[in-house]
Parts: sequence; structure tokens; C-alpha cells
Amino acid sequence: MKYFDPRSILLARHAQHIVLVHFPIALLISSVVFDIWARWSGRTQQALVGKLDLYAAAVSSPIAAATGLLAWRWQLEGARLKGALLLHLCGALLVTVLCCALAWYRANRRDRDDATLPAGYFAVAILAVMIVAFTAHLGGIVSGVVTPGN
Ligand code: HEM
Repeated sequence: MKYFDPRSILLARHAQHIVLVHFPIALLISSVVFDIWARWSGRTQQALVGKLDLYAAAVSSPIAAATGLLAWRWQLEGARLKGALLLHLCGALLVTVLCCALAWYRANRRDRDDATLPAGYFAVAILAVMIVAFTAHLGGIVSGVVTPGN
């Protein structure tokens, strides 16, 4: 692997997934942090940032999932779906559905004041953050970055 060769960086078979996974993870966490801040302070600017972060998470999570399927086919050569890989796939699909559902809810909300989101919204959003964290942890196991004992 040449460190500064654009071809080997961009066209590595599994590189796209490894790069793109950071977007839904960071955007979803950031969305919930800004929404909690908005609820706590009553400020609408923070709520707007939370909403836009959520929309970006909803757009980027299916893209990350699609590149994950490609990494599975190319990098793991379609290995049997079991153990950490199967759990990673299930967590990824659940996160994608939750991000899109939360974004749909925000876009269609009657009450336009995003600083007054109901407690149920936060419960689902925090659940989604926990699932994305667990999915990312499993991804590390699948890619071999996380091994027993570290
Ligand atoms: C929102 C969706 C997803 C997220 C957030 C996610 C997250 C991650 C993370 C954090 C890693 C480890 C990256 C690293 O080692 O630096 C990973 C690796 C991996 N994921 Fe996902 N993933 C998602 C969807 C999927 C899906 C749908 C599949 C299909 C089975 C998949 C298959 C894989 C594979 C095969 C690897 C290992 C890639 C390699 O070693 O090059 N992922 N994922």
C-alpha cells in the first residue's frame, strides 16, 4: 500500500465504507446533542442545527449501508452472515430505518417549534444513538480493528 497514491487510497476495495460510516455516526450523535441543548436552553438555532444534522444522517446512513454491502461482497467475499457480521448488518439496517423515521417525523411535525420536541422523540433518538454506537463497535470487530482484549 502506497500511503500517498490517490488510486490506492480511493479505489481500495473496502475504502469507501470505512470512510463513509463516520458520517451517519457523527451526524446522528451531533443531532441529538444539539436537540438536547435546544430543549434545555429553549433556543431555536440549536434546534435547527439538530434538525439539519438529522436530515444529513438520514441521507448518509443508506449510503453507508450500501457501501457496507459492497465491502461484504468485495472485502469479505460474501462470507456467511453470522455472528458479529450478522449483528452489524441488523444494527445498520435498524439505524437506517430509525434515522429516516425520525427525519420524516421532524419534516412532518405540526408544531414547527423544534425546541419543544416531545420526550418520546428523545427516547427514540437516544436509542438510535446507542444502536449506531453498538453497530460501529461490531464494525470494528468485523474489520479486525477490535479484537478480544482491546
Ligand atoms: C449505517 C450503517 C453502517 C455503519 C454506521 C457501519 C459502521 C462500520 C464501522 C465503524 C466499521 C469499522 C470501520 C473500521 O474498521 O475503521 C465497519 C466495517 C464493516 N462493515 Fe459496516 N456499517 C454500516 C453498514 C454496514 C452494512 C449494511 C454492511 C453489510 C453487511 C456492513 C459491512 C461491513 C464490513 C464487511 C466491514 C469491514 C470492512 C473492512 O474490513 O474493510 N456495514 N462498518
